[in-house]
Amino acid sequence: MKVLIHNSAELAQQAVADILSNRIAASPASVLGLATGGTMEAVYDRLILALSESGVPVEEVKTFNLDEYWGLAPDHPATYRSYMNSRLFGRAGFPVGRTFLPASDAADPVAESAAYEAKIRDAGGIDLQLLGIGQNGHIGFNEPTSSLASRTRLKTLTESTRMANQQYFDGQEATPKYAITMGIGTILDARDCLLLATGSNKADAVRKMIEGPLGAHCPASALQLHPKATVVLDAAAATDLTLREYYQYVHPDGIDVQPSHG
Ligand code: F6R
Repeated sequence: MKVLIHNSAELAQQAVADILSNRIAASPASVLGLATGGTMEAVYDRLILALSESGVPVEEVKTFNLDEYWGLAPDHPATYRSYMNSRLFGRAGFPVGRTFLPASDAADPVAESAAYEAKIRDAGGIDLQLLGIGQNGHIGFNEPTSSLASRTRLKTLTESTRMANQQYFDGQEATPKYAITMGIGTILDARDCLLLATGSNKADAVRKMIEGPLGAHCPASALQLHPKATVVLDAAAATDLTLREYYQYVHPDGIDVQPSHG
């Protein structure tokens, strides 16, 4: 796992936005896996700027989001489809027909999940999967004890996840209880994984993900199995890492340099 620690949240967000925009510039027909949540808001603002400043075309990009609440009307303002349309797709000019999320109003979530997996396969798989992390170590909505081999399916959200997300709804009661999420196996199939965590409230989950034992108690620890996983952190999210000095020695200031002789 490559661990890149930046001095501030802003630098970490910019680093992730640059990785995404460089990837699209190098491969305009990239298949990107995307995430939502508070952490990604600034990343998408910066990505939109980076894409427009360097004139990177986005018409051929295909995107698959990690997850979507289940049981909401499609036009509900708190669906992840609404989030993505308003925060990224509309503003950056991504053709909406090439952007995919599970349907929030799917009548048959089992069929919807299988169809989502098939769509990802038909697109040739995900080149780069962007991820955030929950305070309980979830990635996507794979809550603790999710199978590390899981595929896209309906998951019941934990109370702690519902508490963290109730700010986007009219109180805890109105916060959805279910989501359709890519599984951990689905996420691990991506050719590259890129996780961003900022803030001290993520420090414990970040430590368990990077240095803890691999296990379903911390779903993000499954990234230890991925051959090309990069974790971008700000200093606050890196506070609890035992080997923090080592990561900073390997990649000073979070800069991803390759070693050279001499
Ligand atoms: C969202 C997602 C979640 C979030 C995580 C962190 O699509 O998959 O795993 O990345 O809940 O959310 P924030 O960034 O709001 O702390």
